[in-house]
Amino acid sequence: MFTYTAGRHFLQIPGPTNLPERVARALSRSTIDHRGPEFSRLTLSILERLQTVFKTSNPVVIYPSSGSGAWEASLANTLSPGDRVLFGDNGQFAANWQKVAAGLGLTVETLPGSWRCPLDVAALENRLAADRGRDIRAVAMVHNETSTGVVNDVAAARAALDRSGHDALLLVDVVSSIGAIDYRHDEWGVDVTVAGSQKGLMVPPGLGFNAVSDKALAAADSASLPRSYWNWAPILEFNQNGFFPYTPAINLLFALDEALSMLLEEGLPQAFARHARFGEATRQAARGWGLDLFCQDPRAYSPSLTAVAMPEGFDADELRRVILERFDMSLGTGLGKVKGKLFRIGHLGDLNELTLAGTLCGVEMGLAALGVPHTSGGVSRALEFLASDGAEVSVVPVVA
Ligand SMILES: Cc1ncc(COP(=O)(O)O)c(C=O)c1O
Repeated sequence: MFTYTAGRHFLQIPGPTNLPERVARALSRSTIDHRGPEFSRLTLSILERLQTVFKTSNPVVIYPSSGSGAWEASLANTLSPGDRVLFGDNGQFAANWQKVAAGLGLTVETLPGSWRCPLDVAALENRLAADRGRDIRAVAMVHNETSTGVVNDVAAARAALDRSGHDALLLVDVVSSIGAIDYRHDEWGVDVTVAGSQKGLMVPPGLGFNAVSDKALAAADSASLPRSYWNWAPILEFNQNGFFPYTPAINLLFALDEALSMLLEEGLPQAFARHARFGEATRQAARGWGLDLFCQDPRAYSPSLTAVAMPEGFDADELRRVILERFDMSLGTGLGKVKGKLFRIGHLGDLNELTLAGTLCGVEMGLAALGVPHTSGGVSRALEFLASDGAEVSVVPVVA
């Protein structure tokens, strides 16, 4: 039995994110013929604007899938059974992508690391340099680790590949950074970028993306992992005329069309600056409460979400439960080995200063309600920061 709760639910998990009114309306349009001229115009316009968002002049493939499907597609199109893939080991999503690779029959190698720090690029470079037989066929990394709030430096990983003269493909997951943190598929020499619709892009879950380089397309010609539904080739062929080789998720594409318009109306630099500012405000609040940020490297703080460590002896999921019950707000849980040890505040997608202020108030009230030791000035610090004129912070976390 559901009972009405007054006011708006605060969906402050790091994705799926709050659905903007304009996107919700677009989603509810009547479905159209996916083989007709209106649909073709819609697809072509979406594909062009996706290139702007991914910062690529190469194709972006859209799947009716979650981000995990797009993970599988990135591997299935470019690799062959037994191929070695080197993964960073600094978060639950990096770990989940590894499971997908292992399930496909690839050889998974992990670069040891800490969940509280970004990928160790020097260790990556050493490992690549030591791989004289060029056994490693791909390096896979998560740009913004949603489980920890740590940003990994993609440009530095590219530079490590280049310096070691290694020809491995570079596969990058931007599921929780695209649209929220500056990302440059072409400039950073990424071969396959993996994304999903439900976070910075402000669209409901259900669309996955692969942006592909020329090198990735060439790899697909010789790669022999079995693939059918994920196969880029027929999709790219149909996309030329604005169509798909199957029935596409038409209404999600209406939503994406509207969300891309909104993102480009705001401007990518402005959207990145907004997220960076909200990240800093959230960290100010956490410091004000006297709680530890899970990310230990200030150069890698995420503009999309902040993971806050719980004081010893207190369960983060208990705090989340109290906040949901008392204040109707959802926060992100700790995933995998950090379950109960941290909670995650999502500040990505469609939100403004007042949404964030309400979010931080909900956390501060929850800390008090549960009796978690803290100082009550966190919200005031965040508000002061948000109100100040110079509330700008670097939009590209730089690690190297
Ligand atoms: C960084 C990252 N990669 C991949 C995924 C998996 O995406 P999905 O849950 O849409 O399959 C997520 C989901 O939260 C994510 O945050």
